[in-house]
Amino acid sequence: MRDVWNLPAIAPWEKSCVKHPTQKPLALLTRIILASTQKNAWILDPFTGSSTTGIAANLINRKFLGIDREEEFMTISKNRKLEIENPQIFGTYKKKLGGFDDKNQLEMFLASEPTVTYDRKLIIE
Ligand SMILES: C[S@@+](CC[C@H](N)C(=O)[O-])C[C@H]1O[C@@H](n2cnc3c(N)ncnc32)[C@H](O)[C@@H]1O
Repeated sequence: MRDVWNLPAIAPWEKSCVKHPTQKPLALLTRIILASTQKNAWILDPFTGSSTTGIAANLINRKFLGIDREEEFMTISKNRKLEIENPQIFGTYKKKLGGFDDKNQLEMFLASEPTVTYDRKLIIE
């Protein structure tokens, strides 16, 4: 991991469900999530916008909860989520994720990482 990250900007396919005004590149969120979570982790983005965090999370085997005050942005988020529920699109987008040295680097990393386990429950009565 270097101090300065060189990552691709948002590609046209990342705007397939209409671009959010401050949408971030999937490559950036993928790098952040991989650096800070494990497989199967829950990720919360309370300012989710078009849910780039969520799309990146789902593409790399994490669960996601997003919140936004703008219904318009929740619609973009829902459409992006629906898009990757198509296994063919899911696979294509995963292969297109930038920021890796070669095509197999991400797959090899995902195959070797540990799974997070949740052993605490919060019960409010
Ligand atoms: C910088 S954008 C997030 C962009 C997102 N990372 C993406 O890639 O699409 C911040 C979002 O926070 C939302 N927001 C701002 N204040 C909020 C609040 N108080 N509660 C919920 N959402 C809020 C805005 O509507 C906006 O969509």
